[in-house]
Amino acid sequence: MIGKITYPVLVDIDLHNRHHVETLRRELPKRSRADALIFAVHSDDRAAIVQAKILGGTFLVRKPLKIDEVRFCLDSRPKAADPPANGVPVAMSATAAVLDHAMSALRTGVPLDITPVAKTAQQLVSAIAEVGIDAWLNAVRNHHEGTFQHCMLVTGVATAYGHGTALPPPEVVKLATAGLLHDIGKASITTDILDKPGRLTDVEYAIIKRHPTEGYEFLRAHSLVGKDVLAAVRDHHEFLDGSGYPAGLTRAEIAPLTRILTVCDIYAAMIEERSYKPPMPPQQAIEVLKSMARSGKVEDRIVDGLSRTIGV
Ligand SMILES: [Fe+2]
Ligand SMILES: [Fe+2]
Repeated sequence: MIGKITYPVLVDIDLHNRHHVETLRRELPKRSRADALIFAVHSDDRAAIVQAKILGGTFLVRKPLKIDEVRFCLDSRPKAADPPANGVPVAMSATAAVLDHAMSALRTGVPLDITPVAKTAQQLVSAIAEVGIDAWLNAVRNHHEGTFQHCMLVTGVATAYGHGTALPPPEVVKLATAGLLHDIGKASITTDILDKPGRLTDVEYAIIKRHPTEGYEFLRAHSLVGKDVLAAVRDHHEFLDGSGYPAGLTRAEIAPLTRILTVCDIYAAMIEERSYKPPMPPQQAIEVLKSMARSGKVEDRIVDGLSRTIGV
């Protein structure tokens, strides 16, 4: 118990230790949100950096600590008079926590409580309705990377598509839930394969191709996720012409919600920023999707809907 904290906090502990992380998750909300929360991390420790952001770190400082860097964080800390957070940061940290929780559950084989996932999907739908897709995409790009960034972008794009094409609200929430969970099967893939900048070997590609089935099998056995979302997780890499994976399904076998998620997934992957690739401009990404629609891989009606939604 660390009591009520009303001053900046510098956290320098092993963020790979789940007991430490659980303790922080319980204790940190007791501090004043106006004060800086600084995490000390090694600059090449990607897992710790992601964890620090999930825990709400306002600043990260490199280990070994340098007094000038710590002082900079203290001088730049948010002031109590700053305006209250809008829905985006709240939805973003809830989304990151849900992704972390879902991926940990898959790795350890423990059941996944779907209630916070559904609540977060709803929160995210409201946040994007309030601020628009651009604000969401910018916030995500500035705060997250890798699979987290990708899942958040897919969820944002899918949600915006739902709003932009006037899908019924329950369908938008289903889409957002599918966006959040679609790649959780990647939890068991190492980052040296997931983030490999160069071409994947056949063996590595075979490992990547297992993620839809692994995510689906986990959710089917360990959660109460509905059948539409389950199908979207399993089939989001299938193409209408049968050239996708894992099952090579064709048009009639791919559900409508899944077809939407597939288009949003491809779009998000293209506009994503990675250490080895800059984001593709939206116009160009839509052109790629249009050519995929012409070759019969994805549905042209959905690409048109996304194009109108994005405004290009
Ligand atoms: Fe995927
Ligand atoms: Fe994806």
